[in-house]
Amino acid sequence: MSTATENRGQFGSKLGFILSAAGSAVGLGNIWKFPGKAYNCGGGAFLVIYILMVALIGTTVMLAEFTLGRKTQKNAIASFRELNAKWSWAGGLGVLTGFIILCYYCQVGGWTIKYIVGYITESATIYADPMNYFLTMLGANGFPLQGAIIYPLIFLLLTAFIISRGVAEGIEKMSKVLMPLLFILLIGLMIRACTLPGADVGLKYMLTFDASTINGNAFLVALGQAFFSLSLGMGVMITYASYLSKDDNLVSNTGIICVLDTCVALFAGFMIIPAVFATGIAPGMGGGFAFATLAGVFQAIPGGTIFGLLFYFLLFFAAVTSSTSILEGTVAFLTEEKGWERKKTLVIVSIVLFIIGIFYTFSQAGFMDIKGIWVSKNGVEFPIFGDFLEYLTDRLLLPLGAFFTTVFVGWVWGVDNAVKEATSDGKFSFALAPLWKVLLKIVAPICIIVIIIAGMVLGMSIS
Ligand code: TRP
Repeated sequence: MSTATENRGQFGSKLGFILSAAGSAVGLGNIWKFPGKAYNCGGGAFLVIYILMVALIGTTVMLAEFTLGRKTQKNAIASFRELNAKWSWAGGLGVLTGFIILCYYCQVGGWTIKYIVGYITESATIYADPMNYFLTMLGANGFPLQGAIIYPLIFLLLTAFIISRGVAEGIEKMSKVLMPLLFILLIGLMIRACTLPGADVGLKYMLTFDASTINGNAFLVALGQAFFSLSLGMGVMITYASYLSKDDNLVSNTGIICVLDTCVALFAGFMIIPAVFATGIAPGMGGGFAFATLAGVFQAIPGGTIFGLLFYFLLFFAAVTSSTSILEGTVAFLTEEKGWERKKTLVIVSIVLFIIGIFYTFSQAGFMDIKGIWVSKNGVEFPIFGDFLEYLTDRLLLPLGAFFTTVFVGWVWGVDNAVKEATSDGKFSFALAPLWKVLLKIVAPICIIVIIIAGMVLGMSIS
């Protein structure tokens, strides 16, 4: 068994950290989840709520996680424990959340590989019936060997391989190349989508503020999505910041990463929604937008197959830089807390999460209906296992994790200590510090709790 210090890498450069943290933030959440949620929760109004959530609560929590991680130079649990021994469970909650997310994240990551291969080898089949292709991958027409087993396994093995090589070697090098590439590709695709004939209807939908669509559910969806998209609420950013030194400006890093991540989500929204309207594809299924619905879009534009291929490469890259960050959180915990050997940890964790994850895909298109896990107040049966996993993380565990982080940093460790850490003991200026203190101690925790409860009570629909 090696010691904790030997296990810990360091970021080679400042840019390396920004790209890695942004790489963690930018992922399937931005491109696969966000457009569907924006569509289901009212378009323009949702965008406003989402941006509000990121600006007020997301940035607040991210800076709190950064200060915790760099202060202690430890994984999430050890960070909490070092500052107050009674609080290590709060970090443990995050490890659990990450594990659950990873179960389905690797499945969807696998789908992106399936689509890369699909666009190379059988684009005609995809175009012939995009919805059927998507649903077949999920098991609607028989055992989903590729969608649930082979491709997710490849995705998981890749994630584990990168993690096994350590932070600086694996994640950082990859992010440096992939993040800028991703950004450029997305802007190109967005411009193409928005200039399609008929795209204006979708654009209008995304730009119209319809207050009637706003309810407690929309707030909870936006909040959960913000945490998911920014990689908050489970200690990933604590772990990442633990590799930083006092020379790094946490405040500006927070700003850069939040802006980058939100831009990517908005680009994806303004790529997918207008394109969906332009090609007249039934926009019923939020979660399938990035797969089933887009296929018809690529078919409709000149050179679409190339765009399709690029798009799924992009989505895959984004997913890998995120999945590595989640797995790193779990692995850092087990190696540093429990003294497990790194390779063995990776193997065990991967096997367990893969087995659970299979059922996510199984449950998507009815190959295996795992119902009845949760029955809502109105007697409406909770739809499927996969939605249950997402519901659990996005609407409950991530917001709760973020809530405990704000309470811990704001009240237990103390907001003044946190400001001291955020500015590297006064080395960097932080003009908004007074505002951050109020947000951290009062606004964020209250909003999070109120939104969790209001969202649960007012709307049981999943979107
Ligand atoms: N933010 C990533 C995405 O948008 C997913 C992710 C990576 C994540 N690390 C996380 C979500 C930590 C929550 C917590 O796809």
